[in-house]
Amino acid sequence: MDRFGHHFTLEIFGASHAPNVGVTLRGVPASLPLVPDDFIADILRRKSGAKGTTPRIEADLPEIDDRRASDGTLTITFANRNYRDGDYRDFTAIPRPGHADFVALAKYGSLRNGWFSGRMTLPLVAAGVVAKKLIAPLRVEARLLEVGGVDFSDTAAVEQRLDAAIREGDSLGGIIECCCTGVPVGLGEPFFDSMESLLSHALFSIPGIRGVEFGDGFAAARMTGSRHNDPIIDAAGHTARNGAGGINGGITNGNPVVFRIAAKPTPSIRKPQRTFDFAQGTLVDYTVPGRHDVCFALRVPPVVEAVTACVFADLLL
Ligand SMILES: Cc1cc2nc3c(=O)[nH]c(=O)nc-3n(C[C@H](O)[C@H](O)[C@H](O)COP(=O)(O)O)c2cc1C
Repeated sequence: MDRFGHHFTLEIFGASHAPNVGVTLRGVPASLPLVPDDFIADILRRKSGAKGTTPRIEADLPEIDDRRASDGTLTITFANRNYRDGDYRDFTAIPRPGHADFVALAKYGSLRNGWFSGRMTLPLVAAGVVAKKLIAPLRVEARLLEVGGVDFSDTAAVEQRLDAAIREGDSLGGIIECCCTGVPVGLGEPFFDSMESLLSHALFSIPGIRGVEFGDGFAAARMTGSRHNDPIIDAAGHTARNGAGGINGGITNGNPVVFRIAAKPTPSIRKPQRTFDFAQGTLVDYTVPGRHDVCFALRVPPVVEAVTACVFADLLL
């Protein structure tokens, strides 16, 4: 299923090892001003190049096909120029542990040219740029809290952790926190379209996400009610703390919506791992070839913001 949303909808297309990736949006008012420069900041935040990210660099220039006034669609496409045709061939014989190769082959009979790829998050970021404009003054901001278990604000320790993983041919995960401010009371449609359900649906569509927790999250299970409950301090429903993460009964309560996500360590690693060679019918110690992020969590904050903004845009429209 490559489509999300009811009123503000996004449909992603292309693949990492195909000519392009992109997204078609529906429900964007024709009056919303949009220029290519609007996309630059978030695209740059997601881009690779920094330590711990893939050496595959793409221009990531958006081509915008604006047909909002005629058929209601807005399509944003990004060319893939820096991909290598052979990069995926091996994975049909030897599926990577922790990646989607085995299930893709079992379900579709092919790796779909890299459909199961972080590259597909570029069109998500593009959709998010449009969604963020639509939901203003509601704001969505995500930031890294941890990389490989190290506090992200400790730059030297993070650098050391990345260097060690690079040296060992291994990979790291990370935790990202997202805070949404200016959220009105009343968004979310329980039961099945509760605010947490919709956000989780969108967040788990990002490849490599292992967990989502709202407000106090898993820690709530170890608290008493008197500690976890948020005292209401005024007629607008503001609370003295925000253990609920801004949501009660699946409906936003007017406080910031706050959640954290866990991004797993990148599955493609140079360190040899045991896996099954389907061509030879034997177990092998496999070193994954190709260019990969050591810690893709470093690139995830703008993607989290994007899918979150899309959920809010869908509800607000
Ligand atoms: C921005 C981003 C970049 C990623 N880069 C890589 C990568 O370079 N190599 C890799 O093996 N996985 C990478 N991943 C993770 C895989 O896409 C993901 O693990 C895979 O599609 C299987 O999905 P799952 O982990 O949700 O089961 C990346 C994910 C994101 C969000």
